[in-house]
Amino acid sequence: MGLSPSSESEKSPQVAPPTTLFLFGAHGDLVKRLLMPALYNLTRDGLVDDNLHIVGVDHNAATDQEYTAKLEAFIREEGAKKNAEGGEVLDPRLWGRLAKRISYIQGDFLDDATYQAIGERIEQTATGNAAFYLATAPRFFAEVAQRLGKAGLLQEDDGVFRRVVVEKPFGSDLPSAVALNECLLKVMSERQIYRIDHYLGKETVQNILVSRFSNGLFESFWNNHYIDHVQITAAETVGVGTRAGFYENTGALRDMVPNHLFQLLAMVAMEPPAAFGADAVRGEKAKVVGAIRPWSEMEALANSVRGQYTENKSAGLAGYRQEERIEPDSNTETYVALKVMIDNWRWVGVPFYLRTGKRLSTRSTEIAICFKPAPYAQFRDTEVDRLRPNFLRIQIQPNEGMWFDLFAKRPGPTLDMEDIALGFAYKDFFEMHPSTGYETLIYDCLTGDQTLFQRADNIENGWRAVQPFLDAWTKHPEVQPYIAGGSGPEAADELLRNDGREWRQIDG
Ligand code: BG6
Repeated sequence: MGLSPSSESEKSPQVAPPTTLFLFGAHGDLVKRLLMPALYNLTRDGLVDDNLHIVGVDHNAATDQEYTAKLEAFIREEGAKKNAEGGEVLDPRLWGRLAKRISYIQGDFLDDATYQAIGERIEQTATGNAAFYLATAPRFFAEVAQRLGKAGLLQEDDGVFRRVVVEKPFGSDLPSAVALNECLLKVMSERQIYRIDHYLGKETVQNILVSRFSNGLFESFWNNHYIDHVQITAAETVGVGTRAGFYENTGALRDMVPNHLFQLLAMVAMEPPAAFGADAVRGEKAKVVGAIRPWSEMEALANSVRGQYTENKSAGLAGYRQEERIEPDSNTETYVALKVMIDNWRWVGVPFYLRTGKRLSTRSTEIAICFKPAPYAQFRDTEVDRLRPNFLRIQIQPNEGMWFDLFAKRPGPTLDMEDIALGFAYKDFFEMHPSTGYETLIYDCLTGDQTLFQRADNIENGWRAVQPFLDAWTKHPEVQPYIAGGSGPEAADELLRNDGREWRQIDG
């Protein structure tokens, strides 16, 4: 997320340097649905040029031509889907340019011969720069990294770079995350590791930093003197879908909280970085996540709710336990609500309530900042019976934008108040090109900007903060039912009610 150069002459975007990008897991969903469309979009925008070579690596047999044709078919399908939503279909000339530079290596991730073939492919390129994208099942992350290291492919001699991109999940608890980081750091330096959390590829998430730190207004009230609490919601309408194998062992907490929701929390709660550089931004983020109070087992239970969706016959929605390949007595949570406290000077006493769930009524990812209400005294002798608190709502998706909920006087002879919203919707101000959210992340990796990638300490601090919930739930695995297509379990409402507060309605 480099800032644009300030002088006019430097305004055209910098083209990524020549690189060979190896996509491990070349036939997987991530490559087909997100990475290749993103590479296509980067080509369209002139941010990568003919010096980018793409090499798929996977165990399936395929020639270069067969692999390229498969990707083309996929991008067409994705493009056609997007077109229905106003996007563009595949431009044959553009695709032709990109297709020329796609090739394939058939190889087992655990076989040294695969890495020899990769080494030879790099030698054929002019610069020697290489990025290895591990779009594989997580069990291969450490295996592939070790073998890349053993084959000498991570050595950055003669000014070339070698980078490794890892997708979430980074471990499944604190010990496994620490072990994975140790394993990666044995064969490469932190500077070479690009840990992706796709939430950081979202414009609206990046905008939190820019809005907070480029507008002097915010800092004056961004603290526990004026903010009562913060609600972070990631509500989804989809169910577990075809991901039963992954989801049964993961659940909503591991899937969404230490990564995506904590990224949102960090963006809202971090101290201003000294610069928009990777070290400064990542340092502040790691600090604030590290300041989350570690709950005791009893506190973790009292401050969390695990839910699971149940059948909604009238809406034709199956319950989680009836979904394909899910155990009929599964206690995996599909919903989680948590209260966390940040023990630092800015936030002491301000609860952060987090909730996320599948099969909810609406898709909406939102940060709602609740301000302390104005004193009521001046309205005592008026028709106004109570003052509700103001919210600043940062909509991450689908209605990207920011809104301040305020009160205004309804025109007329009596003093009546009406809720109004001062707001900004992205679509009203900016032309949004179709994008997968991976464009910025891939471009930043190729240009060596780590600002939007997670550092080891950030990952470990996230797991440290959720570990008490995981431990407490091992002993108390019960889940609270909620109806599919509803707003979540009743116990989640109680969590806030106990503090004299309530959730904002999930309204997209
Ligand atoms: C993924 C989770 O990381 O994020 C999914 O594994 C979830 O379960 C998805 O659906 C949500 O991402 P987005 O961008 O749709 O909010």
